[in-house]
Amino acid sequence: MIRKISAEETYPVRQQVLRPGRPAREVFFEGDLEPETIHLGYFDADEIVGVATYVGRKNSFFEDSLQYQLRGMAVLPDFRGKNIGEALLLYGEKLLKNNHPEVLLWFNAREVAIDFYKKYAYRTIGDPFMIPNVCMHIVMYKKL
Ligand SMILES: CC(C)(COP(=O)(O)OP(=O)(O)OC[C@H]1O[C@@H](n2cnc3c(N)ncnc32)[C@H](O)[C@@H]1OP(=O)(O)O)[C@@H](O)C(=O)NCCC(=O)NCCS
Repeated sequence: MIRKISAEETYPVRQQVLRPGRPAREVFFEGDLEPETIHLGYFDADEIVGVATYVGRKNSFFEDSLQYQLRGMAVLPDFRGKNIGEALLLYGEKLLKNNHPEVLLWFNAREVAIDFYKKYAYRTIGDPFMIPNVCMHIVMYKKL
């Protein structure tokens, strides 16, 4: 049910969940088209209902030589609470760890999603900050 997809295939879910009412160009994230970037899609029949993207990016909070950033984690409203977010997160962790045994995964978590990530042992670091036109975020991370 989870497969690698293209950047473009993530855009409808990103738009609906993460950038509703915002210009279409805002669903494109820096790093989307880099060769080592991984986009995952959760399929319900032929429909992509959940997405997550992993970009090779360092954050200055961490000294680890290998760091990936999770971006654009989103599940369509009708499909939430069915462990799809969990499945995407765990699948991504496994994939990254298989490829890079020493990888650190970090991301800018929306404040409303902090407790979701805490369930999977992610920790916060630093102060909350605003991403303009979106909402408050805080950096979270885990050494995989
Ligand atoms: C956050 C999100 C990805 C979670 O996906 P989901 O498929 O609904 O979550 P799951 O069904 O896999 O939930 C797994 C567990 O986390 C819990 N959980 C889910 N969302 C949560 C939240 N926002 N806060 C706290 N706990 C949450 C669930 O209750 C479940 O717990 P359980 O195993 O004890 O029953 C989804 O709600 C979403 O897309 N939200 C809007 C966009 C967003 O905030 N994305 C994150 C950007 S950083």
